[in-house]
Amino acid sequence: MVAPTSGPSDTRIRLAQARDTDVADTLPAIAGARLILVLRSAIENGTAASVLPAGWAAPSRPFFDTAARAFVTQPMAESMSGIGLPLVTVDQEDRVVGVLSVTAPGAIIDRALDHGYEPPKALTLGVAVAKIHGLAVSETARSQGLATTLLKRAWQVHEQLGYFLLYGSYETERDLGAFYTRCGYTVLAPAQGFAPIDILFGIHAGPDECVLTRRRSRR
Ligand SMILES: CC(C)(COP(=O)(O)OP(=O)(O)OC[C@H]1O[C@@H](n2cnc3c(N)ncnc32)[C@H](O)[C@@H]1OP(=O)(O)O)[C@@H](O)C(=O)NCCC(=O)NCCS
Repeated sequence: MVAPTSGPSDTRIRLAQARDTDVADTLPAIAGARLILVLRSAIENGTAASVLPAGWAAPSRPFFDTAARAFVTQPMAESMSGIGLPLVTVDQEDRVVGVLSVTAPGAIIDRALDHGYEPPKALTLGVAVAKIHGLAVSETARSQGLATTLLKRAWQVHEQLGYFLLYGSYETERDLGAFYTRCGYTVLAPAQGFAPIDILFGIHAGPDECVLTRRRSRR
């Protein structure tokens, strides 16, 4: 279980639960994003993020090993949602006021498959790289640090699990470069792409999008 943590202004950040699904799906629509369908189903049936706790449960065995084993024994959709992290920020009445999902890097996995990777091998990219998706905070709860704290929590979880890259994107007109930079991300110029790891292919932003990346420092 991904532990709940406290956020600003008496809020809490926790894993999205079935009762949160509708808000977790519609709130990011402000930014033109919706919950990825497999993640929505996984929130509803309680299997979202089910693979992640293995990273804490058996510190002697790298999360990578446990996740890779899950990938070869279960369908691809379940593997993807099992490593997805749908977070919500809730107020004192447990109402959802902020959302952020961290998902398997679908575009990178698709490109790996296009490049001839076998599905389990392509999926293993999802234990090193993850995508932040659908960050949104209710209008009435903005400017209190909720989004910053959601991003911080997402990074903390993935850093503990040994991930070395989180990335995302935003539409250039949203002008969120300074915000993401303050949150520890490197924001690329519009339309610029990046190679996630030492593999043959990269990810390219659309002409009106900026990609942002945060890499774990080398130890
Ligand atoms: C962007 C968003 C998630 C920020 O949530 P938040 O909880 O208010 O963020 P924080 O309190 O952690 O940080 C606020 C700071 O972020 C920056 N910021 C937030 N929205 C901004 C925007 N639209 N343009 C430029 N800067 C922005 C500002 O510096 C702001 O500081 P201020 O309140 O003193 O002006 C929220 O405004 C939102 O949901 N917007 C609509 C959806 C969206 O754009 N999501 C991002 C998609 S990639």
